[in-house]
Amino acid sequence: MDDIVVARLGRPPGRRHRIANELLARLGTRMRVSDPPYRWGYGNVESHMNVFHLASQTCAYGVPGDLVELGCATGESSVVIQSVLSAGGARDKRFHVYDSFSGLPEPADADASDGIYHKGDMVAPLERFEETFVRAGLAARPTIHVGWFDETVPAQLPDRISFAMIDCDLYSSTKLVLPHIYARMSPGAIAMFGVYYDPEVYAREGIRSTYASPGVKRATDEFFADKPEQVSVLYANEYSNGYFRKQ
Ligand SMILES: C[S@@+](CC[C@H](N)C(=O)[O-])C[C@H]1O[C@@H](n2cnc3c(N)ncnc32)[C@H](O)[C@@H]1O
Repeated sequence: MDDIVVARLGRPPGRRHRIANELLARLGTRMRVSDPPYRWGYGNVESHMNVFHLASQTCAYGVPGDLVELGCATGESSVVIQSVLSAGGARDKRFHVYDSFSGLPEPADADASDGIYHKGDMVAPLERFEETFVRAGLAARPTIHVGWFDETVPAQLPDRISFAMIDCDLYSSTKLVLPHIYARMSPGAIAMFGVYYDPEVYAREGIRSTYASPGVKRATDEFFADKPEQVSVLYANEYSNGYFRKQ
């Protein structure tokens, strides 16, 4: 059977796939429509490799603490992090995810003057997060913290963190969560930024994406101005991730 992979039907496989496939069958063709199992939200193969390797390292070296993701949206990177935990058998660790599940808050001040994002951008309802786990065939689930970060952070953060995925796009959100994450990171813990775009390190030539999230780098660089650690850029095409390891 030959499959036509449709890049973005915008919804999980369901009625639309079935109707299209019934039509294709009636036409006598052997081709069928399917969504790629690896792509219906955010991130790409390279950014998921970064998530996998960094989260795995902290588990392999036994860095104390739990794993957290701030801005989990449809759960694409959450599935990778949960898989690392489940495969590694780190039974003493939990994974916590945080999101409004209503998309971004109203951009104010620096975010408003960047003019890139709007309230509700990237809205991903909780059901879609669940569907991503079902599609991945994962039985384990993280602890889900629904709400705006200023309601859930720091009250609902674990006391100690070994790996953090910080992926919230706005200056205000990054500025809000970073000090609380940093304060809870064990020595050797790693935090990864979903978008940390530094054109001087990685020009991303030929990439037409406007997915730059300049507020993330601004908030992060301000925070690290008086810290011993430095953020490094990780190549991941349009996502241009960053990371640091806590001393
Ligand atoms: C790029 S998406 C996360 C993508 C996800 N990490 C992945 O790789 O699949 C950014 C998410 O951050 C969330 N977010 C940003 N600022 C927030 C805030 N202040 N409170 C709650 N959620 C926020 C948005 O709702 C959105 O789902």
